[in-house]
Amino acid sequence: MYGITKIELEDFRSFKGKHTFTFPTKPGLYAITGKNLINPTLGPNAIGKSSFLEAIRWCNYGHTSRGLKASDIINYDAKSCSVTVEQNVAGELLTVTRTQSPNSLRLNGTIVDQQTLEKHLRLGPQAYDYAVMFPQFGDAFFDKSPGDKLALFSQIMELDYWLERSKAADDLAKELALEKGTLEQALARNDSILKTLSDDVAALIIKRDSFEAEKQQAIRRHKEALQQAKTDAAKLDQRLATADEALTGLHQRLERAEGRVAALDRLELKLQTVTAALQKLDGLDATCPTCLQQVNECHLRDEKAKITREVRLTTAEIDDIDVKRSDLKAIKQNIRDFEDERRDSQAKQSRADSEIRRLKQNIEDEQKRPNPYLEMIEAKKNQHLKLKGEIAKTQEAFTQTEQDHAAVSFWVSGFKRVRLFIVEQALQQLELEINNCLGSLGLMEWAIKLDVERENKSGGITKGFTVMIYPPSVAKPIRFEAYSGGETQRLRLAGNLGLANLIMERAGLRNTIEFFDEPSAHLSDEGTLDLADTLAQRAVDAGRSIFIIEHRLLDYPYRNTINIIKDASGSRIE
Ligand SMILES: Nc1ncnc2c1ncn2[C@@H]1O[C@H](COP(=O)(O)OP(=O)(O)OP(=O)(O)O)[C@@H](O)[C@H]1O
Ligand SMILES: [Mg+2]
Repeated sequence: MYGITKIELEDFRSFKGKHTFTFPTKPGLYAITGKNLINPTLGPNAIGKSSFLEAIRWCNYGHTSRGLKASDIINYDAKSCSVTVEQNVAGELLTVTRTQSPNSLRLNGTIVDQQTLEKHLRLGPQAYDYAVMFPQFGDAFFDKSPGDKLALFSQIMELDYWLERSKAADDLAKELALEKGTLEQALARNDSILKTLSDDVAALIIKRDSFEAEKQQAIRRHKEALQQAKTDAAKLDQRLATADEALTGLHQRLERAEGRVAALDRLELKLQTVTAALQKLDGLDATCPTCLQQVNECHLRDEKAKITREVRLTTAEIDDIDVKRSDLKAIKQNIRDFEDERRDSQAKQSRADSEIRRLKQNIEDEQKRPNPYLEMIEAKKNQHLKLKGEIAKTQEAFTQTEQDHAAVSFWVSGFKRVRLFIVEQALQQLELEINNCLGSLGLMEWAIKLDVERENKSGGITKGFTVMIYPPSVAKPIRFEAYSGGETQRLRLAGNLGLANLIMERAGLRNTIEFFDEPSAHLSDEGTLDLADTLAQRAVDAGRSIFIIEHRLLDYPYRNTINIIKDASGSRIE
């Protein structure tokens, strides 16, 4: 609910000093009137009625309905002023105190700013003027231009909020689209890097395999050479053995041949001796060549025969010895040849051994030689794996951004649709509220229709806030400006009352207090009576205290009358 229980004014406009007023709680229509004791000819004019209401307005919003603030609202004889209003907003008791010179604003004793206070009040100044306080010089809703009507309607319904939300969604959607694009680019870039890495790995695998094949081929080549070297070495061993064997045989042969040559030398010497002995006997007849004695012939013959036999035997023995001195030379040559051969083979064998060692080392080295491409492949594969992880993360972010973009994009028009929905609802309600008031204000069977600038169903825009008025038995709507003053004022009031109901409903408040400062301008006496009846009925229907400042209905059966007296000491409430 919204209600005001008490007000305290000090040096506010015509109210000099401190004045307190407690508002009646019983529903009904109350009059605010009074007496001007300073200038009785003015009747109840200029006594502080409007000032009394403006004090509430100023306390809550910092300026009056006519825009007065600062020094204008301090009583001419005072240096500062203050107003305290006790009110109940949806069960929350708010005691608001505002002072001028020095300026301050307190809510329940704590200093607050205007924004915080309005949050607690739930109504902005304009909404307050159209829902609680109908000021003396306030514009009626229907009097405003279509554009101003729309501005007021938008503000009260907080319609701009939805456009701001839609704009914010649009901005966010654009940001998300950009982010989506960036992620898409990153994905494309990383995909191509991934492809390059795959190609690199494939190329390195080929190099690794050909390196391995070359290595195996080199090992094979070394092994074949080793085999060959081993075969050569074996052959050399064989040659050495053969030479050794031949040398052994040759040395034996040499030894044997030398023995025989020595025997031959001995026999030839013997043969010479024997032959010389025989020669000495030749020509001799009977002298013994040995004993040089005269020998008989027979003895000589025997001697000759003996020596001849000796010669024969020795010759035969010489003939028996199967050796030539040249053989000895040949054998020695043979031995030298074989020894040369042996040295040659030994040299070759030593070379073959070192070749075998070299080849074995080569094979070992080759087997140990690392394949450089293995490490490169490993590194590239790791890069590939890491990048794949990154791509998965980017993909995830992209999917999320895409979903967010779709969701946010939905709300660009979604918030506009919410606005349209609120507009539809509010218009229907406002139409209903206004039409309900028309009858009680004496405009029986009149009807009004409202339309507002909005995105309509066909996608076009309906311009401004239009009010179409259908008087009884006229089929087409007639412009507001065409009506008489009285009709116009009734229509105005109906518009204001309907709007007040809508505002309070939107704020979630049930209003228990309303103020109307001279709402009857242009009305006939009947019209003024209709107005009072309407407000009295409204007070009963809504359980509300309605305060009216009205000079022409002094004898109306109000629930009560609040009298304000103005004399030399200023205005006071009685
Ligand atoms: N700062 C001020 N100090 C003292 N008096 C002021 C000040 N401002 C305005 N007044 C006077 O206070 C008086 C009360 O004004 P107010 O508007 O409240 O009159 P009112 O009772 O509503 O009269 P009306 O019926 O003519 O509208 C007026 O005479 C006005 O000139
Ligand atoms: Mg006034």
